[in-house]
Amino acid sequence: MRTEQSKTIYLKDYRAPDYLIDETHLTFELFEDHTLVHAQLVMRRNPELSAELPVLSLDGQQLELLRITLDDRELTAADYQLSDSHLTLQPTQASFVIDSTVRIHPESNTALEGLYKSSGMFCTQCEAEGFRKITYYLDRPDVMSKFTTTVSGDKQKYPILLSNGNPIASGSEEGGRHWATWEDPFKKPAYLFALVAGDLWCVEDKFTTLSSREVTLRIYVEPENIDKVQHAMDSLKKSMKWDEEVYGREYDLDIFMIVAVNDFNMGAMENKGLNIFNSSCVLARAETATDAAHQRVEAVVAHEYFHNWSGNRVTCRDWFQLSLKEGFTVFRDAEFSADMNSRTVKRIEDVAYLRTHQFAEDAGPMAHPVRPDAYMEISNFYTLTIYEKGSEVLRMIHTLLGNQAFRKGSDLYFERHDGQAVTCDDFVKAMEDASGIDLTQFKRWYTQAGTPRLAVSEAFDATARTYTLNFTQSCPATPGQSDKLPFVIPVELGLLDARGNDLPLRLQGEAAASGTSRVLSVTEAQQSFTFVDIAEQPLPSLLRGFSAPVKLSFPYDRDQLMFLMQHDSDGFNRWEAGQQLSVQVLQELIGQQQRGEALVLDQRLVTALRSLLQDGRLDQAMVAEMLSLPGEAYLTEISEVADVEAIHGAREFARQQLAEALFEPLWQRYQANREVSKGTPYVAEAEHFARRSLQNIALSYLMLTGKPEVLAATLEQYEACDNMTERLTALAVLVNSPFEAERGKALEAFAEHFKDNALVMDQWFSVQAASTLPGGLQRVQALMQHPAFTLKNPNKVRALIGAFAGQNLVNFHLADGSGYRFLADQVITLNALNPQIASRLLAPLTRWRKYAAARQALMKAELERILASGELSADVYEVVSKSLA
Ligand code: ARG
Ligand code: ZN
Repeated sequence: MRTEQSKTIYLKDYRAPDYLIDETHLTFELFEDHTLVHAQLVMRRNPELSAELPVLSLDGQQLELLRITLDDRELTAADYQLSDSHLTLQPTQASFVIDSTVRIHPESNTALEGLYKSSGMFCTQCEAEGFRKITYYLDRPDVMSKFTTTVSGDKQKYPILLSNGNPIASGSEEGGRHWATWEDPFKKPAYLFALVAGDLWCVEDKFTTLSSREVTLRIYVEPENIDKVQHAMDSLKKSMKWDEEVYGREYDLDIFMIVAVNDFNMGAMENKGLNIFNSSCVLARAETATDAAHQRVEAVVAHEYFHNWSGNRVTCRDWFQLSLKEGFTVFRDAEFSADMNSRTVKRIEDVAYLRTHQFAEDAGPMAHPVRPDAYMEISNFYTLTIYEKGSEVLRMIHTLLGNQAFRKGSDLYFERHDGQAVTCDDFVKAMEDASGIDLTQFKRWYTQAGTPRLAVSEAFDATARTYTLNFTQSCPATPGQSDKLPFVIPVELGLLDARGNDLPLRLQGEAAASGTSRVLSVTEAQQSFTFVDIAEQPLPSLLRGFSAPVKLSFPYDRDQLMFLMQHDSDGFNRWEAGQQLSVQVLQELIGQQQRGEALVLDQRLVTALRSLLQDGRLDQAMVAEMLSLPGEAYLTEISEVADVEAIHGAREFARQQLAEALFEPLWQRYQANREVSKGTPYVAEAEHFARRSLQNIALSYLMLTGKPEVLAATLEQYEACDNMTERLTALAVLVNSPFEAERGKALEAFAEHFKDNALVMDQWFSVQAASTLPGGLQRVQALMQHPAFTLKNPNKVRALIGAFAGQNLVNFHLADGSGYRFLADQVITLNALNPQIASRLLAPLTRWRKYAAARQALMKAELERILASGELSADVYEVVSKSLA
């Protein structure tokens, strides 16, 4: 496995393809113990290069070559060279046709890349480099071809045969078999190829586009899931409409299909006209999926649909440009979700996620720029940096240009590059050309890794009536990049007067004030901005809406933070002030715990949260967000040296104190909301999400008091509710409670009731994996023996092992290293089964530099054990070796 794949690939080595493939004609013959793939490639020398004909090197892995012809001449072994990754031959003419037949084994493909089987159906995952496991090809995104695909298989087992584009012919064959031919009129790279064959049912609908074309929409699922598809269909129609209204983008084929599969390495895949989804990102109904799951389905359906333009019509030249399509598409889906639900809540969730996980990646051994310069295994670069930070980079462009110019830039980008494979530079160029704004310095966001620091100080001059903000930016070193140049950091800000009103903002040198919330561009290492006509000392509200992905610091005291929580006109910054207050209070408790002192909670936090709970005018979702203390993973990320026990102890102490001090208002809000929930059938909309989120966070605090009336309420909610959001919260509350008998009963009843629903069982595994009660490792080990668990299903691995190592920090980081040993064992097993999943599971071990010496040694020892464990996949090898470097 680790042979030639562990070579490093560099962006600077990019060369245009020597040959092009104008047409690709594929025929698949699907059988139970093998599949035959016939490929006819209509090729020619790239006309942009010299007339000489270099050697042609086709990608191909794990293929058994049965026959190959060049312009109808059958080739013998003397005519070509075969290695375990390439087939090379010498063309003799500028235009030629290659025909090949290979045998492959989807039935034993556990890596879930290329063609594989999932729950009895055939499906594909070709991004990034899976197509080379299907046939010999130029498997690179800048080779775009017109595809026709014929699929033949057993009619009974595989009544549905799908591929990209439009169906053009079908028929029956001998021996109970049938076939179907699909034609995709749009040129595409091989990574967007898809094939599905199975016994599937579908829900069908219609969408009429902007220009009055009628599109057929189909969502295919296994028959037992046909009742869980409506939410995804509604989401699809909303996405299609939104992309027309907001970006002017219309769908381009007569049919759009989504297929749900149970075994899938990621969330979903935007194959042209035939999106393939992890079933967890399609199936949703009240009884089986939480509010969060409903919102995820809506977001992923939108994301994949939006790729039809940002990714498919205009694609990436090479995989270093991955964020060109992913950063842009995440930005698009985030704005869609903001428009469909609550904009502020969506922003809070995204920022909390980015700061906890992407900032940790930026500070770790795998840190890389949004446009990396090198990789060993491209699958390892489907990262939070490419996706989430890439989306933040797009958001900053949007902020700097304004909505109108941004839209002009996006129109220009799609018009200029339709049908092409392009670079991040091409995208930025379109934005510059449409807006007249120079983004040269801004582009450092694409090339420099690491999270910038932005330290801010203030100076008020009462006699001059001026207020100055001084900004100092810096960025820590990351692997391979020791010195960084200043970024362009858009800082949206306002200044509050003593009553909490926004002051009019006029910078020195400006003729008049304009606005009360403005964006300043910080472009220098040190830079000051002076506001004039400021009569009294103001309080700044900085980085409103989190206008740049930086770590901002300003010396707020706790009273000032409480003031901002109440008065900031920016909803995001009201939440942010609450988080900063909580961080200060928790860090004080962590210090007390480390010094062996008695823990004393700053009562200002109690006061602040009480007034939120008592204010009936506030958005309930915001109240719920503000009641959520920063998570242990975030507290770890912002620690110099993370003290696992002190972080957990301090946070639990604070939760306990808050629960007791705020029992009355929490109980009141809980009961009021539960009453409404009881009388309201489930609706997957923002106002209902809001009610349930406040109800549920209230319940999880209340249970910390151990009062019998809370136990009774939890059991009532668990048994009587009509939806998974309330049921799963009640279960989680019981699982983390000291009520052992009730916990056991609820877990058993839940598993009995949902044993046939794999996605619900995933949630059952996760709730237990995340329980911080002692003995977590033993519980997880025991659950691995449960009949519903299997290492072969990525969702199960994530639900149990991933949740344990990523969310259950006190149990994973056991002082004797047994949690680390357990994780390394799973990685070693999965390395042989599914390298992509193995490599992702490793992430917690790569963070060893965050911990004190004893834990560092234990974590490193496990990384070294993995490295020495034998044949490693390129995926695992890259992450382990970079983590130890
Ligand atoms: N392009 C897909 C998406 O973000 C992700 C597929 C990546 N798959 C993989 N195996 N790396 O929508
Ligand atoms: Zn994507």
